[in-house]
Amino acid sequence: MQRRTLVTCGLPYANGPAHIGHLRTYIPADIFVRSLRKQGRNTVFVCGSDAHGTPIVINAEELEVTPSELVKKYHDHFDQTFKSLNIIFDKFGSTESETNHNRTTEIVNALIDNGYVFAKEIELAYCRTCNRFLPDRYVEGICPECGAVARGDECDQGCGKHLEPGEILEPVCKICRSKAEYRVQEHFFFRLSEFKDFLSDYLDKLEGTSNARNYARGWIDKKLNDWCITRNLEWGVRFPGHDELVVYVWVDAPIGYISFTEEWANEHGVDWKEYWMNPDGDTDIIHFIGGDIIYHHCIFWPALLKGAGYTLPKAVVASGMVKIGDKTFSKSRGYVVWVNDDYLDKGFHPDLLRYYLASYTSHTKELNFSWKIFQEKVNNELVGTLGNFIYRTLLFAHKNFGAVPDGEIDPEVTRNIDDARNAMIDYFNEYEFKQGIDSAMNLASFGNVYFQSNEPWKLIKTDISGAGTVIRNCLQIAKALAVLFEPVMPVIAHDAWNQLGMAAELANTPYDEVVTEIKVGQPLPKPAMLFTKIDDSTMMEMERILEDRVRMASKKKNISFEEFSDLDIRVGTIVLAEPIKKSKKLLRLLVDLGENRSRQIVAGIAQTHNPEDLVGRQVVVLANMLPATLFGIESRGMILAADHDGAALLVPERKIPAGTAVR
Ligand code: MSP
Ligand code: ZN
Repeated sequence: MQRRTLVTCGLPYANGPAHIGHLRTYIPADIFVRSLRKQGRNTVFVCGSDAHGTPIVINAEELEVTPSELVKKYHDHFDQTFKSLNIIFDKFGSTESETNHNRTTEIVNALIDNGYVFAKEIELAYCRTCNRFLPDRYVEGICPECGAVARGDECDQGCGKHLEPGEILEPVCKICRSKAEYRVQEHFFFRLSEFKDFLSDYLDKLEGTSNARNYARGWIDKKLNDWCITRNLEWGVRFPGHDELVVYVWVDAPIGYISFTEEWANEHGVDWKEYWMNPDGDTDIIHFIGGDIIYHHCIFWPALLKGAGYTLPKAVVASGMVKIGDKTFSKSRGYVVWVNDDYLDKGFHPDLLRYYLASYTSHTKELNFSWKIFQEKVNNELVGTLGNFIYRTLLFAHKNFGAVPDGEIDPEVTRNIDDARNAMIDYFNEYEFKQGIDSAMNLASFGNVYFQSNEPWKLIKTDISGAGTVIRNCLQIAKALAVLFEPVMPVIAHDAWNQLGMAAELANTPYDEVVTEIKVGQPLPKPAMLFTKIDDSTMMEMERILEDRVRMASKKKNISFEEFSDLDIRVGTIVLAEPIKKSKKLLRLLVDLGENRSRQIVAGIAQTHNPEDLVGRQVVVLANMLPATLFGIESRGMILAADHDGAALLVPERKIPAGTAVR
């Protein structure tokens, strides 16, 4: 029996349009799958939209539609967008499907039966104004780990820690902004802590990218708490026997990987258990995700599978995050490039984006999207090297011969093709997409040198058969390039394939075809250029769209002098500064503000300032901030600082009596 491979991609939340950050999961995965198939491997590729979780419920509430309407809309959106980019899944399902509800219930029941679920009373954020519990994204507050502002179940602006219900400090209701309180309620927990040894062994064996293993190991070495798997929501998969609760989205979302395989298998008369309940171990499950969801895939997910008796994934491939113009991706701050509005709808070819995202840098590194680099890569590499070689070869061949001319294939050419193919396969199998693509691009460079140094345009005047031999060799290289680039740029590679007069279906053509000699006499149609240069004005227009978006997002409302006067800003002198236990970012300060006793202020400057150096220094303080308690310490004011690569304190120009007002 041939080994089976199942490749999955992190499921996009059906909560908003596709952006370029998303694509770093899907494009490399699609390239990988196409590459496996070219090696003759039996491969299934599944994905689907993630329909649950509080952000979807909140967003639906705000848009005044039902969650079901919202997820339907974005499910179709992602399905369409992936097709436009030729990311072709064998199944693109939805976690809202009946199959997924059933599979989730089945797995949760298995966990209960196996003794891995227990009930416990916990304190949960509750809003008295809205009269409801506040699960996940309904609550905002302070991360207990690092002190950053955190939203719901995740410290996404700070240390990245997953936050359990009740962990967030200073909870505030997201809907009405009033201060939330903690109330006791019974919830259900998964005994994650019992899986520590299992996970530790599992991570040692886990394949994929090293960032996934290392990051996950860092988390389990700290502490593995049991995991609350229920939420007070209407929308989601009901927790068995408790109609007021649904399971946490991170339970039913990865189970989607199983359900979508199940749906695909049923449509194709295959047994899904061969993939997910396969004790013989002849199936490899490979998850492609972004670096932001390693915790869920390398800790929660394998423990769930183990606890319920399912096949464990062999590899987790985690990409580095995509940044925009060197800034962390942020929709609210305008650092976002939309796949449809900003790219496809502007008429850019999908293959160019596939090429850029996969070949710019190593898969695990951060990728900074910039239109300038996009233009340079297209113009220099695709137009200048690859396109140039194939076009000049085909044009010369078409004009002078009209068909593939006769001539021996040069062993040096065969060797170069062979090397490029082997390198590409090896790199892709190691998830080194950039290096794999570079290997194929080197073959195109070799082709240009070969054409140039053999001077067929001179030979044709004196030695037609010599010129023919050179051209047949160049056509052989062009054929190899079409095969090698098909996983990366399926449409354009196909165009090249057609221009070479090839009849077979390129997607089904194995890598080994690269060295099969191109048929003498095969007619060559009139070629067209595969790539065109992107001009500066187009790029300037794209950059302007991005700049405008950032400017719009950062626009603050204008305020009156009265409103400004409400701010009590004063000069203060620091009289005491000390670290706060368990917080890396915060310092406790006592500041003389000209009052009778000094003010206690908690400031997030521990990473940029030594407490000893601060004592005696003058700072500028916003004195009428509402009090807040951080790590059990009340803070009554805010030290003003410019935020750039850490805090730069604002200080008065000369020494001033403490308490002097700033206007
Ligand atoms: N729904 C969850 C995944 C559940 S998997 C069982 C989710 N959805 S998402 O829409 O936020 O992200 C979808 C995919 O895109 C994930 O693989 C995620 O890691 C990836 N990315 C989203 N934004 C990204 C960047 N800015 N950069 C790189 N990848 C990112 O997470
Ligand atoms: Zn509220």
